[in-house]
Amino acid sequence: MQVKLADEVSRRRTAAIIAHPDAGKTTLTEKLLLHGGAIHRAGSVKGRKTDRFAMSDWMEMEKERGISITSSVMQIEYSGYRINLLDTPGHADFSADTYRTLVAGDSAVIVLDGTSGVEKQTRKLFRFCQKQEIPFFIFVNKMDRFGIDPLELIDRIEAELGVDIYACNWPVGRGKKFRGVYDRQPGKVILQQKSEDHGQSAESQQIIELDSPVLNQLMGPESVEIFREEVELLEIAGGEFDRETFLNGQLAPLYFGSAQTNVGIRPFLESFVRLAPQPRRRSGVDPTEQQFGGYIFKIQANMDPNHRDRLAFMRVCSGVFEKGMEVRIVRNDQLVKLAQPRQFMAQERQLIETAFPGDVVGLFDPGIFHIGDSLVSGDDVEYNEVPRFSPEHFAMVKTSEVFKKKHLQQGLEELSEEGAIQLFKPWQGNGADLIVGVVGQLQLEVLSYRLKEEYGVETSMQKIPFNLARWIEGEDLEPARFNTGSYRKLLEDRDGYPLLLFKTRFTLERDRKNHPEITFKDTAPLHRS
Ligand code: G4P
Repeated sequence: MQVKLADEVSRRRTAAIIAHPDAGKTTLTEKLLLHGGAIHRAGSVKGRKTDRFAMSDWMEMEKERGISITSSVMQIEYSGYRINLLDTPGHADFSADTYRTLVAGDSAVIVLDGTSGVEKQTRKLFRFCQKQEIPFFIFVNKMDRFGIDPLELIDRIEAELGVDIYACNWPVGRGKKFRGVYDRQPGKVILQQKSEDHGQSAESQQIIELDSPVLNQLMGPESVEIFREEVELLEIAGGEFDRETFLNGQLAPLYFGSAQTNVGIRPFLESFVRLAPQPRRRSGVDPTEQQFGGYIFKIQANMDPNHRDRLAFMRVCSGVFEKGMEVRIVRNDQLVKLAQPRQFMAQERQLIETAFPGDVVGLFDPGIFHIGDSLVSGDDVEYNEVPRFSPEHFAMVKTSEVFKKKHLQQGLEELSEEGAIQLFKPWQGNGADLIVGVVGQLQLEVLSYRLKEEYGVETSMQKIPFNLARWIEGEDLEPARFNTGSYRKLLEDRDGYPLLLFKTRFTLERDRKNHPEITFKDTAPLHRS
């Protein structure tokens, strides 16, 4: 089993796929599945306009809004590799879910719209990956449209995000004439054969040399000359690919392509499996260690409205997971038999027998798991992979239904344990005010929906106008002395620790400067002992 485990680990590539809405994340995911043979025709993941339902859109609310709140996991077998693609919420309101899913992957794929470049939400994601040292790939999509000049785009990304770019390929033609890419690794031009069905099936590609006359016919003499000059420039001035810098999230391999017309998909997949890291050590434990270990990074309630079940998403970190195995929840030493593990193919959930590090397993949850729980088969390992992220939106939650106050309290406590929201009260307050904090505004809407659906409580939310928060720590800290003025507000988290809210970054920076003895933290451990 030892050899097999090491082999399985080395062929795993687990990546989160993230994007600003409408950049083409769904279309790209679908095309990656198509080229990996997981589906045979595009359109299976998301129907076209008439039937706009994404396979990963489980919740009723998602259907109504046409956005994806939940994260789903897809598997692709490609060229001997097993790719686990973790989908993330595609809404502009990033939630704690997006961050947790990013951390659950070993790398990330950021999809950019080549006509819009770096957008607000992408900037946030870049920064997160850089800070957490998550290696990331950039796929510049929609090259079949006239967009920003590729050289200009690379300059902008480097300047705006402070990350070095290594262009792995270069576009052949632009707009409607975008027909393929020059792939730097084999040093060949890969042309996509035109399809009869608008790119719904994975057609064949033609591989030619850079000096092939085919290019002249395809692009015309002027364009082909510019193209060859650009490729030459890229080879001379395009820098070196330094693996270490990439693994630290400071250098990003970049690819041009069009998910819609299938151009550049296969070259991207080839390069991705070669460069993406295999599952890494987590909490000091090597993935090839025999002892099984994993952690819960997401709990999804009400995925199937007919069965009020909850599904816990577990990332396998070490050892072999086997159906029916007994594991221990490190938090409370509870033993659990994992009887019906599932893998996801978006809407379909398949029962599985085994899983290896890098894989994500869906576990039926009768309410025993918490986000961040470590599950082990032997000695204790705490996978501290899921921090609490400082919320950016706050609201006081109330119900006018006098008899439902207990339900509301219970609902908020349970949902905070699940990780859907964070629960606070005013600093040393009497607990009557229930304040929730979330990373993305949308989480508040999901909250009121779930309180109504699952706990039968109609609520009103009164927003608290602060959008920056930090946990404060330090010796001789007297939190109450910060609870002054209208620019700050002090809350207490569920473990009794102080969280300071600021109206402006200026106030935060001034406090930081005036109080070097205090640490202002934007994350906190999920469970404090
Ligand atoms: P998202 O998940 O990132 O939100 O984006 P999604 O894939 O849903 O794509 C957003 C829109 O962009 C869709 O158009 C999609 O067809 C289009 N798109 C995706 N990739 C490409 C591409 O490579 N080239 C071009 N030109 N368009 C692309 P839509 O009109 O909103 O929907 P639909 O009618 O195409 O479904």
